[in-house]
Amino acid sequence: MRTIAIVNQKGGSGKTTTAVNLAAALAESGKKVLLIDLDPQGSASLWYGFKEQAIGLYDMFVKNNKFENVIEKTEIERLHIAASSPLLAGVEKALAKHVNPENILKEKVSKLPGHPWDYILIDCPPTLGILSLNALTFAKEVLIPVEAHVMALHGLVQLLKTINTVKQHLNPQLDIAGILACRVDNRTKHSQEVLDQLKRRFDSKLYKSFIRENIKLAEAPLHLKPINLYDKNSKGTKDYCQLAKELINQE
Ligand SMILES: Nc1ncnc2c1ncn2[C@@H]1O[C@H](COP(=O)(O)OP(=O)(O)O)[C@@H](O)[C@H]1O
Ligand SMILES: [Mg+2]
Repeated sequence: MRTIAIVNQKGGSGKTTTAVNLAAALAESGKKVLLIDLDPQGSASLWYGFKEQAIGLYDMFVKNNKFENVIEKTEIERLHIAASSPLLAGVEKALAKHVNPENILKEKVSKLPGHPWDYILIDCPPTLGILSLNALTFAKEVLIPVEAHVMALHGLVQLLKTINTVKQHLNPQLDIAGILACRVDNRTKHSQEVLDQLKRRFDSKLYKSFIRENIKLAEAPLHLKPINLYDKNSKGTKDYCQLAKELINQE
């Protein structure tokens, strides 16, 4: 089983778009997938039609709720979700006195009777607070979506340092699965330049697949469907399908 945290402290990088559509593309390729939505804003959950979920994940972090109680089926075969709750925004405060609050997700998942999934993907919030730390302590790999814009590169160096610190102190097994260029606009020179820069600086860590700017990806959540079901012939479907193949080849 691969456990992959989708992380970038910058909002609008493409984390949620990647979590939702990569999960669907992997499921379509025959993989069993669990998507954990750790963002209190719950965009990934909403995308799959899970709205204002009760207290599920919050109670898992703060009370005695078991992880298996927060897992639900989606309409997609082979895809389960642990949906977000707006209450998650209060987890930081609620756990202020907890010893090792960054360990909770890992402990809870380890108590599951079995692990039926090939992939667990975690959509993280745009902050490196306690929820993202839980993801990084539990996961063995990190996938970093980066918007193909020069401003996004600055934050990336900082993020890689943070991941290294987490690796040293909390999770020695943690590795970078890959950096994913998102919202690549083939029509602009700027976008191409950023892609070239990413290639030069991060070389083998950069996924060969990249995600092009595609309006269908922005429309799909309104229809509560991942891109492969919303518009099977879109560039978005092709790009996330390609990425799923690249991940499967990494196995
Ligand atoms: N490849 C893309 N093409 C077009 N719009 C995109 C693409 N990727 C993301 N977006 C849009 O950009 C915004 C931010 O993306 P999102 O995945 O929510 O980022 P994050 O979760 O990192 O904040 C959303 O409105 C989304 O619809
Ligand atoms: Mg998001």
